[in-house]
Amino acid sequence: LPIRAGAYTDELIKTAKTIASPGRGILAIDESNATCGKRLSSIGLDNTEPNRQAYRQLLLTTPGLGEYISGAILFEETLYQSTTDGKKFVDVLHDQKIVPGIKVDKGLVPLPGSNNESWCQGLDGLSSRSADIPCGPSALAVKEAAWGLARYAAISQDNGLVPIVEPEILLDGDHPIERTLEVAEKVWAEVFYYLAENNVIFEGILLKPSMVTPGAEHKERANPETIAKYTLTMLKRRVPPAVPGIMFLSGGQSEMEATLNLHAMNQSPNPWHVSFSYARALQNTVLKTWQGRPENVEAAQKALLVRAKANSLAQLGKYSA
Ligand code: 13P
Repeated sequence: LPIRAGAYTDELIKTAKTIASPGRGILAIDESNATCGKRLSSIGLDNTEPNRQAYRQLLLTTPGLGEYISGAILFEETLYQSTTDGKKFVDVLHDQKIVPGIKVDKGLVPLPGSNNESWCQGLDGLSSRSADIPCGPSALAVKEAAWGLARYAAISQDNGLVPIVEPEILLDGDHPIERTLEVAEKVWAEVFYYLAENNVIFEGILLKPSMVTPGAEHKERANPETIAKYTLTMLKRRVPPAVPGIMFLSGGQSEMEATLNLHAMNQSPNPWHVSFSYARALQNTVLKTWQGRPENVEAAQKALLVRAKANSLAQLGKYSA
């Protein structure tokens, strides 16, 4: 069927499909240097370039990673880093059949005229990380965020890059799951409206939403079945099946919660590949195991494979704890 022709149309569709392949998901290691520093300080390490390099080398050289991981999102610094043997990280990924990706936004800045909200600098990244609970994101912040995301997606595709469209709705707050659903539906409606307005090729994007859960401080926790029901309902109402993959972020869920929720969402067939693009839910145990010590690298890599495999099985709806 006709599709908007562009220099990269075929390549975009192929790349998006490769990343959204059965039993695989994305390893998000696109922490900015500041955020990476927070992770390192949690195990008593200084935020130096050699320490960041060592940690990223540990993650990316994990033997067998490509079986469960189809893409890796890198921070700019990592894109140009190499292993201690001088091999470019990007080549390490290619060898494992993992598609390298790059974080393109330039961080959050205040959004004037809004409800103390922020937006992502650089017309090329954004998130509606703006939910100022309990009032929720203002209409202005949602519009700005959705438009920014759509522009970023269009610019990326024009340059042959598959955009990962990520309107994150933060977990913070004591609101019930119904409120998250309401906000998510509003945000997603605008995101898709502007994606269409900007002539984005839906077959050549990947989505990275947050799951629909109660606020982190809500009095009741929801079980994986409830989270799956709310999240899939939201996606079905808002996301066309032309989009090849839904790659969830973990958003501060525990490693086990993130795996169980993904598993619950894959208990019946979905119109899209429903998978993961986790950072914290793949890295927490790795960091604790590593502690910055060379003698722990092997054990830490094993810990990464355990999480990657668990989420791979969850993608297939076949995980059991
Ligand atoms: P979390 O899985 O830790 O929420 O991070 C995902 C992300 O947005 C990184 O790109």
